Amino acid sequence: MKEVTVRAPATVSNVVCGFDCLGFAIDEPFDEVTVRRRDEPGIAIVHKDEFGLPTDPRENVAGVAVEAMLAEAGADFGVEIEIEKAIKPGSGIGSSGASSCGAVVATNWLLEEQFPAVKLIEFAMEGERLASGARHADNVAPCILGGFVLVRSIDPIDVVRLDFPPLFATIIHPQIEVKTAEARAVLPDLVPLRSAVRNWSNLGALVAALEKGDYELIGRSLVDEIVEPARRGLIPQFDEAKAAGLAAGAIGGGISGSGPSIFMLSKTRERAEIVRAAMAEAYEQTGIPFNTYVSEIGQQGASLR
Ligand code: HSE
Repeated sequence: MKEVTVRAPATVSNVVCGFDCLGFAIDEPFDEVTVRRRDEPGIAIVHKDEFGLPTDPRENVAGVAVEAMLAEAGADFGVEIEIEKAIKPGSGIGSSGASSCGAVVATNWLLEEQFPAVKLIEFAMEGERLASGARHADNVAPCILGGFVLVRSIDPIDVVRLDFPPLFATIIHPQIEVKTAEARAVLPDLVPLRSAVRNWSNLGALVAALEKGDYELIGRSLVDEIVEPARRGLIPQFDEAKAAGLAAGAIGGGISGSGPSIFMLSKTRERAEIVRAAMAEAYEQTGIPFNTYVSEIGQQGASLR
């Protein structure tokens, strides 16, 4: 193939109690990434959106991910990567991950011998390293695989795709930028053992609840004593928006990724729409413009358009 276009979905990472190790993909929004083979070596980046992201491949998340991939493949050709983003950078719903995952999945189709999914996750993580200064796979793993994914290890990559019952995400995205690197800088280096115990108890219970389809246990497990308390001050009216979502009947929720987006999970699309209306009403009081999304948790990862 000479040219491939891939749709790469937005993702919600951390999922409250799974900092850096749990995430899920949603059906929309998604980015579109087209990769074209060129005879001359090297990577060219073309943007088809208004976000003004870097065109230097060494400063672009898709560029560094594909560069690592082509080097390991020993490719004797170059590529042009055309990116049309619908996921706003700095939103907390996996914008950088969607760019790098879309690019590596598309490039994979241009290779004679394709890499397996775990390698694609590894290459896409190079983009996360560039974007946030840290390697983590809780956005890129669900973006590549779809669904709910637990990242047991990143060195080496060891990921578990979880079963889950029907779930609908409501997302409210305040139009302010919270850079992941900054949201990581506010985190504590050390955490009290008691808080750590509560977090891994909740994460274990959440994984079990997803597999069993136990909505009540999902709700009880969506508690975070470590990261949310450190980050919630970065998101205006976070407590009020979360409380409004819960009062409207959401199962639970919290900060999406490193914020500023806030997500809530519901059993049905109808409930997720009611939650959207309640959270929007609460958020209007901030005077900050915001977008909202309602989407089913998607089974599909980055794939051909
Ligand atoms: N797990 C990461 C964080 C996701 O919360 O910093 C952000 O991309």
